[in-house]
This record gives sequence, structure tokens and C-alpha cells, in this order.
Amino acid sequence: MTELTAHSSEQDAESGAERAAARVRDGATKAFYLKTFGCQMNVYDSESMMDALAADGYVATDAIEAADLVILNTCHIREKAAEKVYSDLGRIRDIKSERRKAGKGTVITVAGCVAQAEGAEIVRRQPAVDLVVGPQSYHKLGDLISRAAASKTSIIETEFATPEKFETLPDKPRKAGSPSAFLTVQEGCDKFCTFCVVPYTRGQEFSRPVAQILSEARRLTDGGACEITLLGQNVNAYHGAASDGAQLSLAGLVTELAKIDGLQRIRYMTSHPRDMDDDLIAAHRDIPQMMPYLHLPVQSGSDAVLAAMNRKHTAREYIDLIARVRAARPDIALSSDFIVGFPGETDADFEATMALVREVQFAQSFSFKYSTRSGTPAAALENQVPEDVKSHRLLTLQALLENQQVAFNAAAVGRTLPVLFERTGREPGTLVGRTPYLQLIHADGSPSLVGKTVPVTVTAYRQMSLTGSVDTVIAAA
Ligand code: SAH
Ligand code: SF4
Ligand code: F3S
Repeated sequence: MTELTAHSSEQDAESGAERAAARVRDGATKAFYLKTFGCQMNVYDSESMMDALAADGYVATDAIEAADLVILNTCHIREKAAEKVYSDLGRIRDIKSERRKAGKGTVITVAGCVAQAEGAEIVRRQPAVDLVVGPQSYHKLGDLISRAAASKTSIIETEFATPEKFETLPDKPRKAGSPSAFLTVQEGCDKFCTFCVVPYTRGQEFSRPVAQILSEARRLTDGGACEITLLGQNVNAYHGAASDGAQLSLAGLVTELAKIDGLQRIRYMTSHPRDMDDDLIAAHRDIPQMMPYLHLPVQSGSDAVLAAMNRKHTAREYIDLIARVRAARPDIALSSDFIVGFPGETDADFEATMALVREVQFAQSFSFKYSTRSGTPAAALENQVPEDVKSHRLLTLQALLENQQVAFNAAAVGRTLPVLFERTGREPGTLVGRTPYLQLIHADGSPSLVGKTVPVTVTAYRQMSLTGSVDTVIAAA
């Protein structure tokens, strides 16, 4: 019976997709192609844009040549990320001229942080672009696209209007049944680290009101989400208005979210060490839904570099903070971001970063060569570090971080951990999920386990993932 139902609904979905494809071929419906760069905040925004476009009658396509609308949701954080956009745009311009020969129009849209940071410069470098839209104007997307399609000149929209964006975007859920969902609770940044573009691309810190977040979380769990990751550039600086006029911190918000039936796992990212307050640390001890994982970027282990970065804490303060977090939740998995080769970084400064890493022991980390971003204070510093020194330091740091990640994963072997299965694997009969420590884990089991949290015994490890076995009775469920 279950099989039959599943089969017929699959067929419905297929014929629905075919019908949509046929409508696109007939020219009755417009198709869009969307590519996302950068962080989870962009992933979340892309999902919102897709919802808005679907509500306007667009259908998504993976075939860029078939798209009436192409959107690149871009990232400006490092030079490489931003430059990739321009090479993609060159290719898309060619597709646009091919389509024009066939009598078809293509609206090329650049959204996201490059749009916000570079605005009209994008059109100057690539005149085929029709619309440039910053992250705070997505609620006007439909209107802007129609105007861009009708206009001979390009449209640039880079106003800051965060509250309206969240009020006007359509309600979630989208993909019904996705067990793990993102929810943006805070956007923007007032910290102005001297290397970083985010305060300029995402604007001032803004926290969404509590009621709005709770109702979105309920819609997500009603749609099948059992895990929600709260997003923000400085998510632990969250201070949203509750209905009674009080202000809730992130710990307060998590306490409210934990009351939602069916929400089994709560995660959050990215946090700043200065906003890691005692209540949030205590929440890791007291709230069972809070997952034992914390992404807390430190960037450097040198006090001189931290000061030049305007991080406003010392290496010792970070290490002490980690000790307090571990006292509250001893098994917590820690991860961090690092920048090597910040202007003025000496061998001794870099050694201090290595020493910090050895002392803290991270489960996972992201490390980058410093990338000069024009308009940020660090770009104007004179003592830039040569590229080969940066490369060498990055390799040295990454080797250490990889060892720590491998050690963390190796320590899981033999343990039985609750795993939330998120999807089926590539091979039939396989599943992919996450441990509480955010480790990716592969196991054999029935597709009916997707969306369920079940005990899995870890049998093997790699640097980036684990393999486990599900109890045979459960696996066949
Ligand atoms: N809000 C977060 C970071 C967001 S940006 C925080 O404060 O930690 C994500 C990461 O990109 C940063 O943690 C940093 O490690 C890296 N990054 C940002 N600007 C960079 C730059 N100019 N060059 C290299 N890496 C950078
Ligand atoms: Fe960028 Fe994070 Fe610093 Fe804000 S706190 S300026 S987002 S690195
Ligand atoms: Fe990139 Fe913007 Fe995110 S610059 S990292 S997409 S906030």
C-alpha cells in the first residue's frame, strides 16, 4: 500500500515536471536558472528567491541555455569568489546572444554580495547584465525583473531595507520534507573587522522579530524539518523583539524554539567570540535540542594580528572562552575560520596561530589566505605578506587542522551515535546523515529512514566523513 502510494505520487510529480517543461517549450511559462555562491545566508536567500519566482509562475531549470532568466547569487568575501562571477557572466553573455538569434530574450541578473558591493561597476564590466540587485531588495525581485525585461538600460537596485525584505518574502516551507533547514534570524554586521566586506555588503546588524522566526520554524517543522540551523553573520549577537516588547538573546530564542514539537535539533552559525554570553553557553548544557557543535571563528592566534584585525579579543580570551564552553558541554565539537597572511603577520605571529590550534583541538576548520578587499581598512596597510609566504603558511596550518579532524573522526569509531538521515545516497539502499557533531555519515538502510534520527554504530572514518551501520531491525524498517 505504502509503495503504491509512493509510486503514484512520484508519477504525479514526474508528469507535473513534464507538464511544466512542456509549458516552458510552448513559451507559456518562463524558466529560470539560479546559481548560488558563498555562505549559507546566500543559500537561504536563493531558496526565498526561488519561492518568490515560483509564485510568479516561473519554473526552475538546470539547463542554462533554456533559461529566460539567469540569476547569479554572488559572494564578495574573497577575490577569487568575486572574480568567478565575471568569468561566468562572460559565458552567460554568449548564451544570451545565441538565444537572441533564436528570437528569445534572457534577463541576466546579478544578486548577492558582489551586486551590493560593486553595483553599476558590474554593468560596466559586463554590459549584458540587465539587473543588479543587492541582498536587501529581494522582496522586489519580481517587479525588478519585469522592469529589466522591458527596459533597454540595466537596472541597479542596492538599497538597504532589511526589515521589509523579511516581511514581504513569501512564507516557507518550500521543499516539503527536507529534514534539515536553514532559517536566517539575523543579518548584517556592525563589527568591521578590518579585512572583511560583510558590513558593506550586508549592512547594519538586524535581528528579525521573535514571532516571525517562530512561525517560520513551525512552518518548516510542519513541512518535515527536524533540524533547523539558525543563520546570521553574527548570529550570537541576535537581539530580537518578543511580542511582549522584551528583547530576546540567541539563548532566549533557542529556548522558545526548543518548545516546538518535532524540532529535534537546533544549530546556529556563525558566532563571534565577543558575543558568546553565559546564557548561550548554558543553553548547550541545558537544552537537549542544542547540538554539541560550535563554529567560533578565531582567525588568528596572535594578539598583534587580532588587534590589527579589530577582533577585539586576545588569543588567551578565546582559549578561556573555549574552556567555559567545554565545561558546560564537554563533548562539544569545535570549528573555526582562520586567515593566514594578514598584513604584517610575522613568522612568530603565524606560530602563535599554530600554538592556539594545538591547544584548542578543532573537529573541523576553514582556513584562507588573506585576500585584499578594496574599501576595507586592511587593504590600505603597507606590509602586505607575499603570496608564496601565504601559500606556505596555509599548507602548514591545513596539515595540522586535517590531523585534528582525522583524530576527531577516528575517535568516533566504535561509538553508537544518534544520526539524522537527510537523504538517500548515490547507491541504492544507502543513506547519508549527520551525527550530533555535524560529521557526515554514510550507512546502509531503507529510504524510509530519511528524516528519522536513529542510532548508528560508527565502523570507519575518513577525513571528511564516517561510515556506520544501522541496527538490522531498524535498517529494514
Ligand atoms: N562573521 C563571521 C565571518 C563571516 S566571513 C566571523 O566574524 O567570524 C567567513 C570567513 O571568511 C571569515 O571568518 C574569515 O575567515 C574569512 N574571510 C573574510 N574576509 C576575508 C578576507 N578578506 N580574506 C580571507 N578570508 C576572509
Ligand atoms: Fe566580517 Fe564576521 Fe568581522 Fe563581521 S564579525 S566584519 S562578518 S568577519
Ligand atoms: Fe559571501 Fe556575502 Fe556570505 S560576501 S560569505 S555571500 S555574506
